[in-house]
Amino acid sequence: MADLAREIKTVGVVGAGTMGRGIARVAAEAGFQVLLVDVTQELVDRALQANDRELQRMVEKGKLSAEERAAVMARFKGTTDVAEMAACDFVIEAIFEDLAVKKDLFRRLDEICRPGVVLASNTSALSITEIAVATRRPQLVAGMHFFNPAPVMKLVEVVRGLTTADETVDLVRDMAARFGKEPVIVKESPGFVVNRILVPMMNEAIWLLQEGVASAEDIDKAMKLGANHPIGPLALADLVGLDVLLAVVETLHRELGEDKYRPAPLLRQMVRAGRLGRKSGAGFYQYA
Ligand code: 3HC
Repeated sequence: MADLAREIKTVGVVGAGTMGRGIARVAAEAGFQVLLVDVTQELVDRALQANDRELQRMVEKGKLSAEERAAVMARFKGTTDVAEMAACDFVIEAIFEDLAVKKDLFRRLDEICRPGVVLASNTSALSITEIAVATRRPQLVAGMHFFNPAPVMKLVEVVRGLTTADETVDLVRDMAARFGKEPVIVKESPGFVVNRILVPMMNEAIWLLQEGVASAEDIDKAMKLGANHPIGPLALADLVGLDVLLAVVETLHRELGEDKYRPAPLLRQMVRAGRLGRKSGAGFYQYA
């Protein structure tokens, strides 16, 4: 039986990129104190400012009062010192998709955080078990996979690695519910459920574009009007980030060993060109 910290007041989020800041916002809106850490003050400040702007827009739309916005913002604290995670009762990692870097981070978090604190990873496709065994608390490590944009998307995949204790899965599921999300529990497998299905679709759309079968606009229009998707697969790839998408396709290809998961060469080229989608200002489309 895992001995875990169940009383959670402060949530730590490591990584202030698109997902990290979105998750931090979700946690603060749910009433938790949130400590957001990244490697530079600029990254942390940018994330807090972006969250403040989004909350301000909600005030303008009448979805939040000015007092609620101030209260949510007051629950955020940013830092560049990962050692401050010692104050957290639950930690969610949302850094980039590099297994070696994630393992290093979990090793550090394991040294920093109190015994019993659950360490969750927002990885899109990597092995929770491999991340877990980098720590001395592998039973307290699980996946907690949010979807972009985190404040809007209702799903959280709760991922059970080979070493994850039942109590850890229960706690992560409860936390997802306290965040106002709908959890589903999945066993560790490359891409879990959503990315195993969604990511090959985006990759296939890029193959179609590369083959000249249709324009980017028409590929997206086809999937919006022909399959009722809210946005087309290329616009979605831009939203997810082409670097993230490539990392997930590569994980599916490597781990499942099947040619059907081979990344479209155009996807690699786009990443090499620094056209990463919305976050870089250009991907399959241009952004202001
Ligand atoms: N952050 C916060 N809120 C956002 C947002 C963002 N980035 N983008 C949109 N929103 C909010 C808007 O403010 C708006 O709120 P309101 O209803 O209170 O006014 C609401 O979402 C709807 O936005 P819009 O009217 O501007 O635009 P849409 O109706 O097109 O909705 C969308 C935007 C919700 C992103 C919709 O296009 C959509 O559902 N797209 C598909 C998203 C998806 O599939 N995500 C999963 C990606 S896979 C993934 O994340 C896994 C990873 O591991 C790779």
